[in-house]
Amino acid sequence: MERLVVISGAAGMTGSETVRRLLKKGYKVIGFDNFFASSIDTIKDVLEHPDFTFFEFDINCTGQMIVLETLLGEKHGELHFINCAAVVHTKYFYIPQATFETNVISMKNFLEMAIRLGAKTYINCSTSEVYSFGSYKEGGVLENDLLLFSTAENSLRTSYATGKLLTEFFMKEAVENGLIKGCSIRFANVYSDSELYPEHIIPYTIYSLLNGDNVQLLENARKTYRTFLHNYDSCDAVISLLETPEALDGSVYNAGTTEEILIPDLVQTIADKMGKKVTITYKGERTADPLRRLLNIEKIRTRTGWSPKVTLDEGLSLCLEKIV
Ligand SMILES: NC(=O)c1ccc[n+]([C@@H]2O[C@H](COP(=O)([O-])OP(=O)(O)OC[C@H]3O[C@@H](n4cnc5c(N)ncnc54)[C@H](O)[C@@H]3O)[C@@H](O)[C@H]2O)c1
Repeated sequence: MERLVVISGAAGMTGSETVRRLLKKGYKVIGFDNFFASSIDTIKDVLEHPDFTFFEFDINCTGQMIVLETLLGEKHGELHFINCAAVVHTKYFYIPQATFETNVISMKNFLEMAIRLGAKTYINCSTSEVYSFGSYKEGGVLENDLLLFSTAENSLRTSYATGKLLTEFFMKEAVENGLIKGCSIRFANVYSDSELYPEHIIPYTIYSLLNGDNVQLLENARKTYRTFLHNYDSCDAVISLLETPEALDGSVYNAGTTEEILIPDLVQTIADKMGKKVTITYKGERTADPLRRLLNIEKIRTRTGWSPKVTLDEGLSLCLEKIV
């Protein structure tokens, strides 16, 4: 039976690589993106693929979503939905208005479309930002840990996470009501070698070092540790869940790595790999940005067999090969 996957945000970091891998596995794929944070370049290698159809559509545009639903209504076979479209970048985390429509309203509308069409599964991309002030514990935070949230009284940062958290409730409710199978995935710090956003720490460091020997970080960065998930691994996590129906119980899965690095050490590592001397300076603060974020990934590992494969060293080399 034909297996058709519909992906929103198909030109983004996780969406684009997921398209590529699904095509290799023999799926038919329909993807769309409005290029809010991506470009046609990330998927140009698959645009001519006979099993891939791409639309420059906005998930917030009712007319375009009606066109998509009408088209999908004429298809037969097994239908799966993956929702990657989102307003993601850190600078928007502090602007509730910027993230709400796409990340919350349109996630829900897209889920309702999947249900109306009788789709078998819906994979909802959520975020590890939901852990807010509880982003770290020894061994990594668990999906069912209670959350310690920063509220609007503390910082607007958590508005993005609050929206994503709401999508996890929509997902769970739909599965519990027997309308569809699905789950939510909480990714932590996805990066790729085709990232367009030089504000994110890896491309930012590479571009700073290409233009000089100074990298200016935020004051918080002195004590901030992060793990980084390569987009090869984030998309494999999506596909492993898509292909494990028994895991699609409406619940949440963490997806990250356990390789923590202090941000100034990350900068130094990149400089060493580029053979450059670096001076690190510090300026500015970010509110409600946790000092550590470490996810426990046992749940996805035991239920699907997924674990991250790309080490930070390998991932940085891939970025440097592409950019430098
Ligand atoms: N990047 C991370 O570190 C990270 C961390 C946690 C969770 N996530 C989640 O993973 C998912 C995939 O994110 P990503 O890392 O690939 O980021 P990304 O920004 O590379 O991809 C998101 C894609 O959605 C598209 N998009 C945005 N608004 C749209 C709209 N109105 N209509 C259609 N397309 C639209 C963007 O153009 C982009 O191509 C998102 O749901 C995100 O919230 C990402």
